[in-house]
Amino acid sequence: MKPLTVNFARMKETIEYSAKVGEIPNQGLRRLALSKEDKTMREQLREWMIDAGLEVRIDDFGNMYGRRKGQTNFDPLVIGSHLDTQPNGGRFDGVLGVLTALEAIRTLNDYEIETYRPIEIVNFTNEEGARFEPPLLGSGGLTGVFSKEYVYNRQDRDGKFFKNELAEIDFKGGETNRLQRAHAFLELHIEQGPVLENEGVTIGAVEGIKGMSWLELKVTGEGGHAGPTPMPLRKDAMMAAANIISHIEQKSNVFDNDLTVTVGRLDVKPGAVNCIPEEIVFSVDVRHLDDEVRKKFIDEMKVEMQDMATDRKVELETETLWEVNTSTFHEGIIDQVSKSAERLGYSNRRLYSGAGHDAKYMNAFCATGMIFLPSVDGKSHVESELTLDEDIEKGANVLLDTMIHVTDNNEQL
Ligand code: HGY
Ligand code: MN
Ligand code: MN
Repeated sequence: MKPLTVNFARMKETIEYSAKVGEIPNQGLRRLALSKEDKTMREQLREWMIDAGLEVRIDDFGNMYGRRKGQTNFDPLVIGSHLDTQPNGGRFDGVLGVLTALEAIRTLNDYEIETYRPIEIVNFTNEEGARFEPPLLGSGGLTGVFSKEYVYNRQDRDGKFFKNELAEIDFKGGETNRLQRAHAFLELHIEQGPVLENEGVTIGAVEGIKGMSWLELKVTGEGGHAGPTPMPLRKDAMMAAANIISHIEQKSNVFDNDLTVTVGRLDVKPGAVNCIPEEIVFSVDVRHLDDEVRKKFIDEMKVEMQDMATDRKVELETETLWEVNTSTFHEGIIDQVSKSAERLGYSNRRLYSGAGHDAKYMNAFCATGMIFLPSVDGKSHVESELTLDEDIEKGANVLLDTMIHVTDNNEQL
């Protein structure tokens, strides 16, 4: 049978709608988890899912599910991603995973195909971890990585609690609505890096996700007046932190070419021009495919930073906010993504993801795989994030074909 193809014009309308909900200049999106923009987008997704004949439910983490009946009542195939974005995010990260899933369902409806297994669309809460750290709170809560207590008591930078913000947007559902079991989970996502584009390849059959650690470092020195305090007498937390951060970069450059290290968040106290900083708190995001390399780098870095702090007579505290090891997806699903791309005549290759995704936690819950699409200039987590229409259409076709093959068998994956 010729592979089915989606109705791209119809799907583009949903992507264009999403691009307006939390729109910021330069075609960016700011749709932070559990914000009013997130509420608006969730409500629209619920409406679209109901219109598509799906049974919608919300669980106690705010994860949204839209269930389509199958010929059997066997464990469902779950497809989806997240609708929350970074503060200066793009229009495609996470969004494409949810909206290509919706379009695939709509296409099955067009052809009046009832799949062997039920299918569920999912929108996971707070994938980005931009507002409530750490990331993946919805999928991590569902899969038991995080307790409900831990998730509910996460606070944003304004001190607002996850549980209250979830109730505030009226998406706090019941624990019994959580996804209980799944045959498989499939997530379409933009690559967010340069590999596919550089090689002119359309489809990524994702093999897994790199391990990553989020650390938080606090440097405590002594405040003072910017003018009269002689330099040799200072315990300047900012100068110490600047040295430590520069050392982290220099060390990563010689430690391993595939290591990525990012200092993305930094807070200064008191933060006035004419006050010597007494406290600096900053994040360090460390990622590598080999967990041992990542851990060795961090262990060595901690010792060296402590020595630097001692030399400068400042205190250094290091906390691990979050970390996950490298995950490898289900070989059968990776292979099916490649086969579906081939059936549709699309170039494809296997690759690992440097970005984290809900699929990381779903991988321990059921057989899991991802489909990547090229990111123009390898850019993401910026307003200029872009994936071309023709690639989005092809990705949706691959998702649909993979779904049909993964759903229509009763083998235990
Ligand atoms: O951090 C990540 O890699 C993901 O985009 N949240
Ligand atoms: Mn994402
Ligand atoms: Mn992201």
